Amino acid sequence: MNFLSKKEKKISDNFLKKGYLINAADNKKSLNYLFSTFSKEISKILKKKIIDLNYIHNYISINNLNEFRMELHHNVNKDKDIRFHYFRIGQNSLYNIVGNELMMQNKLNLSIQFPDDSSSLLPIHSDAWQGNSPYEVNLWIPLVNCFRSKSMFILKAKHRYTYFNNKKKFSSDSGKIYKTLKNKLEWMHVKKGQYLLFDQSLPHGNIVNKEKQTRITFNCRFKSIFSPYGNKKIAEYFSPITERPMTDIGNNFVSPF
Ligand SMILES: [Fe+2]
Repeated sequence: MNFLSKKEKKISDNFLKKGYLINAADNKKSLNYLFSTFSKEISKILKKKIIDLNYIHNYISINNLNEFRMELHHNVNKDKDIRFHYFRIGQNSLYNIVGNELMMQNKLNLSIQFPDDSSSLLPIHSDAWQGNSPYEVNLWIPLVNCFRSKSMFILKAKHRYTYFNNKKKFSSDSGKIYKTLKNKLEWMHVKKGQYLLFDQSLPHGNIVNKEKQTRITFNCRFKSIFSPYGNKKIAEYFSPITERPMTDIGNNFVSPF
């Protein structure tokens, strides 16, 4: 039995079929907030105004990239409203795909891949293999257009059970996994202003960025307050962002007997 509306059912079915969805930002003001906070922080570090984020590799050497990324990550996450706006960008889809009582990761993750940089790769993996709860979803927001090797790949959801239910065939070597699955991967083409919401239990990752532009993306995990937890626990990693009154009442209930 399923009492979802026709529209909700369509969104659910598409997500189950593909393992991801790509939409224009649900809230443009929040999108602008994310972009302007990022630009402000980047300008402070580099002491100059950056007009086109696609070419920030012209201002930083690969040797300094990780330090730069960490400083930027720290400064953006210090903004007290950044998580609120990040959530707003994908709110409608999060409600449709996960539910309306949500946990959100305490910090946004930031990735930067310069052209031809092999030092900041994310080899094929599933977060759920590494201890994350399979109930978590990832909201991935690019600050530049992402396509081909300047983007990320996800295993086509129809292959979800083909490989990984056969434990004998399974290798934990990411190079071997990538080779096996190479033709079954789908590259995410996500434009600036759009977001990608994907099932992080599906294998995903990236390769060396062979485009002439830098890839800059944020990502952040969400889950239902009440779904099972993996090794990422409440408080240190997640916090509730849309708790409803009956949950609050239930949590504080004390029996007089
Ligand atoms: Fe991941």
